[in-house]
Amino acid sequence: MDRPGGDASSFRLDGRVAVVIGGTGVLGRRIAGALAGAGARTVVVGRDEARGEAASAALAGLDGDVRFERCDATRRGDLAGLVGRVLRSHGRVDVLVNGAGINAGTPFLEITDEELERIVAVDQLATVRACQEFGRYFVARAASEGTGASIVTVGSTAAAVPLSKVFAYAMAKAAVHNLTRNLAREWGPLGIRCNVLVPGFFPAEQNRSLLDEGRVRAIVGHTPLGRLGVPDDLAGAVLLLAGDAGRFITGAEIVVDGGFSAVSI
Ligand SMILES: NC(=O)c1ccc[n+]([C@@H]2O[C@H](COP(=O)([O-])OP(=O)(O)OC[C@H]3O[C@@H](n4cnc5c(N)ncnc54)[C@H](O)[C@@H]3O)[C@@H](O)[C@H]2O)c1
Repeated sequence: MDRPGGDASSFRLDGRVAVVIGGTGVLGRRIAGALAGAGARTVVVGRDEARGEAASAALAGLDGDVRFERCDATRRGDLAGLVGRVLRSHGRVDVLVNGAGINAGTPFLEITDEELERIVAVDQLATVRACQEFGRYFVARAASEGTGASIVTVGSTAAAVPLSKVFAYAMAKAAVHNLTRNLAREWGPLGIRCNVLVPGFFPAEQNRSLLDEGRVRAIVGHTPLGRLGVPDDLAGAVLLLAGDAGRFITGAEIVVDGGFSAVSI
């Protein structure tokens, strides 16, 4: 199903199936919309049935149909069940987006084991487990049919340069950036591409309490493009990574942050 590179059709995903874990969130929903808008039949995945149905209803009418599947991405059994259900209902998976996330701005010495484990479970281990459960299918399919796939993991600018307050989150995100490079190396020969999408600062549920007025002023003042991100800003990069337009991109970090991490003072 390769399409020629370098023209608009290489950004289309007709005939493909995308699974967006965390697709009920602010960024995940826009990511799912971009994929469905490009023709992918898209499965929005989250823990909450009502939010999931609302997200898929909001995305109705795009080129690819959008359906919700419930799954707690920290649970291996849920993920294994998800892979089976999507393969039964859609027959294939071509794009996996790891987009679940939680955050907390607790001072380092006050982080409890419970909080540490909760954040690592969602921001790190859920991605590891999803890459294993979907990866088993991707690898088997690549071996039998020669068909590739794309894994897009949502990372963070916090993974590289320390940002105040978010210790556990930054540590977990650094781990999935690292995992992505390892999987790019491991699965590149099979045509399974693995990349990190790195958003800057986008107001969402998980960072609502972190983005107070003073912090927003500091962030915007350090951003060459002079504003916070909005979900639409991610759509182009997602389509680049998901489909044939990005066919020679693997192990990469595509930063969408208005230039925040490109500059010092
Ligand atoms: N908003 C930003 O500025 C920003 C910046 C960098 C990275 N990110 C990352 O983008 C991704 C999306 O976050 P967002 O900002 O849209 O926040 P959000 O809170 O709106 O969305 C996060 C989603 O993850 C889901 N989720 C949490 N735990 C889950 C679990 N166990 N199983 C399944 N789903 C689960 C939530 O239900 C929610 O739908 C996250 O990985 C986040 O770390 C966000």
